[in-house]
Formats: sequence, structure tokens, C-alpha cells
Amino acid sequence: MTVLRHSLLFLSLLGHTLLPYAAPAPQASAPATPAPTSSVQLETPEPIIDYRERFIPVVARHGMVVGPEQLAAEVGAQMLRQGGNAIDAAVATGFALAVTYPRAGNLAGGGFMLIHLAGDNRQTLIDYRESAPAAASRDMFLNAEGELDQQREYFSLQSAGVPGTVAGLLYALDKYGSLSREQVLAPAIALAKEGFPVSFALSFEIDASAKRLRQNPAAERLFFKPDGSVYAIGDTWRQPDLAWTLSQISDSGADGFYRGEVAQRITVEMEAGGGLITAADLADYRVVERQPVRGTYRGFEVVSTPPPSSGGVHILQILNVLEGYDLQAMGHNSADYLHHLTESMKLAYADRSLYLADPDFVDVPVMQLIDKGYASRQRARIDSKQATPAVEIAPGRPLGPESTETTHYSVADRFGNVVSNTYTLNFSFGSNIAVPGTGMLLNNEMADFAANPGSANAFGLVQGEANKIEPGKRPLSSMSPTIVLQDGKPWLATGSPGGSVIITTVLQMVLNAMEFDMNVATAAAEPRIHHQWMPDVLRMEEGFSPDTIHLLKAMGQPVDIANRTTGRTNSIMIEDGWLYGATDARRPGGWVAGY
Ligand code: GLY
Repeated sequence: MTVLRHSLLFLSLLGHTLLPYAAPAPQASAPATPAPTSSVQLETPEPIIDYRERFIPVVARHGMVVGPEQLAAEVGAQMLRQGGNAIDAAVATGFALAVTYPRAGNLAGGGFMLIHLAGDNRQTLIDYRESAPAAASRDMFLNAEGELDQQREYFSLQSAGVPGTVAGLLYALDKYGSLSREQVLAPAIALAKEGFPVSFALSFEIDASAKRLRQNPAAERLFFKPDGSVYAIGDTWRQPDLAWTLSQISDSGADGFYRGEVAQRITVEMEAGGGLITAADLADYRVVERQPVRGTYRGFEVVSTPPPSSGGVHILQILNVLEGYDLQAMGHNSADYLHHLTESMKLAYADRSLYLADPDFVDVPVMQLIDKGYASRQRARIDSKQATPAVEIAPGRPLGPESTETTHYSVADRFGNVVSNTYTLNFSFGSNIAVPGTGMLLNNEMADFAANPGSANAFGLVQGEANKIEPGKRPLSSMSPTIVLQDGKPWLATGSPGGSVIITTVLQMVLNAMEFDMNVATAAAEPRIHHQWMPDVLRMEEGFSPDTIHLLKAMGQPVDIANRTTGRTNSIMIEDGWLYGATDARRPGGWVAGY
């Protein structure tokens, strides 16, 4: 979206004045305290809303948090109003989501936080991905017959990697935040202790996972009423054990989680139930601050997540291939466009299976993979008229079940800092196992390793030896918090949950914005496709025309109209000092908190 173009069109074609904007946008709540003076120089007096577009973003001026749940997004916005920066808000939102969005918000999971630091005009990436316990081993999930024991891989205490979230959020706060630990944790503690009204989305999510949650007594106590029923909309849900855990962190910092009584409760549970995480694993957990991966696309700079996530590398790889085509001439979501997108996705995911893993254990050829020359050679492999069968690209295995979990939120402050954060327990509610007395669920991130190298993981992704289980190693991720820069300044912050579809979701989000000039709400709303090389299936959301589907099939594309949607972006676009936020309408409960 170029503001000038939009405003001129709006004025000349519609004959209206630009939407006058002084009050918060419809979803945005009123500031608790007077809005601080903006330090961003506003180049235009008013934000640009184009009434010809079917999807309109929420607009704010000073700060914004866009996330999967209302209360946690408002906690972040509250930090911004208190004078905190985007990092403070992101950390407070992360802790609050552990209370209000338990299917993916977490204390005992992990993730990646991409930060744009306005003062230094640079970006940095905080890797707080879980790591394998010291006792983990390559074949730990294989039974005596050499077959994968999926129950143990997905839903046992052995599924859990050493959690990174608490260390990661506190690292970000200590190094780049401005508020105190007590300040950013206070809202989460209050939400857990005093409770909050259960939303439709929360009640629905717990109900949908009730069968598995009830299998673990601690999770059953946590998520259901004393009479065993699901909390209904409007019920108050209190989590005193989680409030206690959060208070330990508030009082003692990372030690309050990794060394004290909380750590002891985790290890007691591990010892009792055959888990591998020890006191030494917890005490040894380390955050890694990394250089993001970066590339260019038609004048934009795309900054994203490096290994141990595959996300940023493959987004850049695919953009490099697509840059060689005239996508606008093909037309957005035309069969021609979708064919080229699909073929580029397949090539990238084939590379994923071979090269991507934890860079502290494996030499990942990042620069070669995101090289424009490599993209030219890959482009030459694409037949513009005919789908290349995936087996001709490389061998593969059938699709496994897919989780749609993980969660993403984006934050922008009035100082020009931007945070794009994706974190997760892996599946919805992780392993569905709670640690007694802590109010928190354990992740099942060990399932992101190649538990049986060469076969498909939980997301149907085929992975090789590079991503085998090793003590201390981080499982390969697809999480892709991304920031796009225009003229060196943050222009779009975005990301998504969805396991293997994260990469293609974020890719289409940034393409819609960069290539097709869509506003952030429209870019999120457009129907999406997904192909991950193996299985050889082109997943299409509803919303494409029958003619397009017919043409794709004629090109040999193995179209599957998916019975589920693809990803869930939470994004902020920044233009001329105005913040435009959009939460993806594909899921209930998302929220834009701005002021
Ligand atoms: N657990 C999903 C991912 O990291 O990609």
C-alpha cells in the first residue's frame, strides 16, 4: 500500500474526504493515561483508509499490539501506555498469553523473537527454542522393532524439550526493555490469580482438546471445573498455581524458573514419569542471540528468522525465485501465479529436508540457499506450464497429522521499535501434560526432530540426519517472525502459527503486501495455498474460483481443497508514522490493541 496512491485515488474517485482520525479505531481501547507525545515524526496528518477495500485495518498512532487473544494484547498495550517500549510490551504479552491463551501461550515452551531496535537501526533475533535434554538420543522414540512410538514422541514426558520461553522473554527484557521484571509480570500474575472471564474461543479450544487433556490428572485439574465440566463463556477462570509460578519468576528472574522450587516440581514429575529433563538441563538452558537472515525483494528488505528455524531461509529462497517472474502480469491468485508459487515452494521444502537443522550442530549453508544466483538456477528447473512431480525433485514420505498450533504476535511502539514474536508448545496444549503445582503445560517440541530420519514428522515434513536428536540440540522449526523494511525502516511485522504452513503463510502475507500493494488486512484475508514438496499435494483454502482450480489441475497440480484454513497472521504495517493492524479472521479471538 502506498499512502500517496491510496489517498489520491480515494479523494479523486470517491469524492470523500479521508477518514478523519483522532480517536482510537473501533477495536482499540481508550488509553488509561493520556497518550504520550509521539517521538515519530508524522509525515501525513491522517491515516489512510480506502473504502473501496473490503478489509480495513485497525489504525493507531502511538503503539500497537496485534495478537491471538484480547486480554494479553491489551496487557501489551498497557505497557506501551505506561511508557514502556515494544520489547516490554512483547514480554508482558508473552507472559499474559501463558495465562489467557494456554493452547499455545506458554512458560514451558519456546520460540523466536525478532526485534527492530530503532535507536541502533538494526534487527536482532532472540532464539529461545527448546533444547534436547542431555539424556536424549537419536533413537529414543523407536521401539525394539525400530518403529516410531508416536504416543511417546507426542504425548509423554519425553516429548518435552528443555523450555526456553522464560529465559527468552527475560533476556529480551533485560537487554532491550525499559520496564522492570515486576512491572511486565504483574498483569499476568493478576490474570492468573484473580481470574478472567472465559471467552468463546477459550471455552471452545479447551472443549476441542478435552479428551486428551483429561488423560493427565494435573491438566484435568487445571482446565476443568471441580465437577469436571468445561468452563463456559463468562465463567471466571482462576489459575492459582500458575500465579505462583509467575510470582517465582517475578521475584527471582530466570532462576525462579530454572533453579528454584519450580524447577524442582518439573524434575520431580520427570523422575516419576520417565521424563528426561534434569535439574542440570534446566540450569544449563541458554538463550542464543543470533543475526537474522535477510534478503531483498524488489527494493524491500526482508528480515526473518535464521536456523534453528527453517522459516526465514525458505521465505527468502522462494522470494528470490519469484522475483524473476512478472507476478503482477500473471495476476494475484491467478492459476499462473499459483503454479509458480507452488513450484517454488516445492523446491524450497525439498532443500529443507536435507540442509536445515540447528546451526550449532550442523553446518547449514544459509548464504548459499538464499543466494540470488542459486535462485536463478532453481528457477530454471521450473516448468511454467506443467507441475513437476515431487518425486522428481527428491524422495519423500506420506503426510502425517498436522497441528495448527503455535502463536504469533506483533508489537510496535512510538519510538520506532518493532517486535515480531512467535512462540509455542508445539501441538495445541503441547504434550497436554501439566506439571503438578505449577499450572503450566509442557511442550512436545521433541516431535520437531527427525525422530526417525527419512520419515515424515508430525507436520508431514520429511527430514534427514541433519535434524536427528542429539543432546543439547534444538529441533528444527518453521517459526518465521518477519519484519519487512522499506527505505531502511520497518514497514511490516508479521508471523503465523501452523507448523509447516507457517512458512508459506508468511510468504503469501509479505507477497500480498510487497508485490500486490494490499493493505495489511486485505493481505491477511486473501485465500492461501500450501505445498511442502512431500506429500505431493497442493493444499488450497476455500475462496479460489473453480476456473482457477480447473486450470491448476490441467497443469498437473495435485489440488486438494483443504478442510482447514492455512495459518493465522497477526500483523502491523507502518506507514508515515501510522500503525495499521490486522488479526487474521481465520480464527476467533484475535485482537488489535492500539492507541
Ligand atoms: N513446533 C512448530 C515449529 O516450530 O515449527
